[in-house]
Amino acid sequence: MGKKLANKAAVVTGAGRGIGREIALFLAGEGARVVVNDPGVTRDGAGQDSKPADEIVAEIKKRGGEAVANYDSVVDFAAAERIINSCAEKFGRIDILVNVAGILRDRMIFNMSEEEWDAVLDVHLKGTFNCSRYACILMRKQRAGRIINITSDAWRGTVGHVNYGAAKAGIVGLTRSIAREMGRYNVTCNAVAPVAATRMTLDEDVKQGIKKRYEAGLVSKEQLDAILNMPGPEYVPPIVAYLATDEAWNINGQVFHAEGGRISVYSEPVETKAVYKKEGIWKVDELIDIIPQTIAQGLVNPAPPQPAEK
Ligand SMILES: NC(=O)c1ccc[n+]([C@@H]2O[C@H](COP(=O)([O-])OP(=O)(O)OC[C@H]3O[C@@H](n4cnc5c(N)ncnc54)[C@H](O)[C@@H]3O)[C@@H](O)[C@H]2O)c1
Repeated sequence: MGKKLANKAAVVTGAGRGIGREIALFLAGEGARVVVNDPGVTRDGAGQDSKPADEIVAEIKKRGGEAVANYDSVVDFAAAERIINSCAEKFGRIDILVNVAGILRDRMIFNMSEEEWDAVLDVHLKGTFNCSRYACILMRKQRAGRIINITSDAWRGTVGHVNYGAAKAGIVGLTRSIAREMGRYNVTCNAVAPVAATRMTLDEDVKQGIKKRYEAGLVSKEQLDAILNMPGPEYVPPIVAYLATDEAWNINGQVFHAEGGRISVYSEPVETKAVYKKEGIWKVDELIDIIPQTIAQGLVNPAPPQPAEK
């Protein structure tokens, strides 16, 4: 088997740690030349450190690959242009963009500040837009390109971080829309929702928290074991690399899930059942009567009301 990404040039954002790190190393292992973007921030987006990106560049070079570091934040629109252009300047083109950069600012909606909302939306959703926007300019000219956006299963709805759930759902919508705009130029855009033990998902605080919840009878042994035995981030890159190959030219606008050895694909969102009023506009009373017996049959409330806590 040859190197499947030989002669290709890639940008991986958030490539200094966790899943991004593994993706950068893997793409380089498949022959891609890589811009390793990472400002080296903390889990909640604070600070700055050039070490994480530098270490990955050094590791890629040690393994015989080609890489260059970039420390810009994907949040900054002008900086995103620099990130993408640095790939074209250094390697002559950009074939692959993997948007991985991410932070967390977890809070229930009734406690969330505007700053916490903006910070998460900025890195995940705006950052993905910013880099994709500049990559699409070059990929459209090249009439070739692959964009892979890292979303999360949280896009379906989540508890404790509505900012994150909204950003990741936004990334799914963005992915599907870029796919529809750019497909004609031979540019595909797909998303991958991973599950992997990183500092984002399984740091010491998370481990202690889940153990306490288990001891308090709030989570089952199965749930505890599933979290503590979460597969590592090294399982995520193969599907990303596959989507970046020439062979995946006709896979566009899809959302995949990657967790350990399991790779799956989400279904297309489709309307299922409908009710019609032939003449005039529905009255609310009519809907109170008809909806439960028709299109709401079988729908499950993800969070039914609970008695007030004392
Ligand atoms: N770990 C999981 O189980 C999981 C699940 C679903 C989705 N994800 C997503 O995968 C991605 C990577 O997460 P991870 O678990 O590897 O976390 P991580 O914290 O280990 O890595 C995130 C990286 O993104 C970088 N980053 C943060 N802000 C940035 C910015 N403004 N510009 C560029 N880089 C920035 C950080 O410096 C860090 O190196 C995130 O988008 C996350 O939401 C992770």
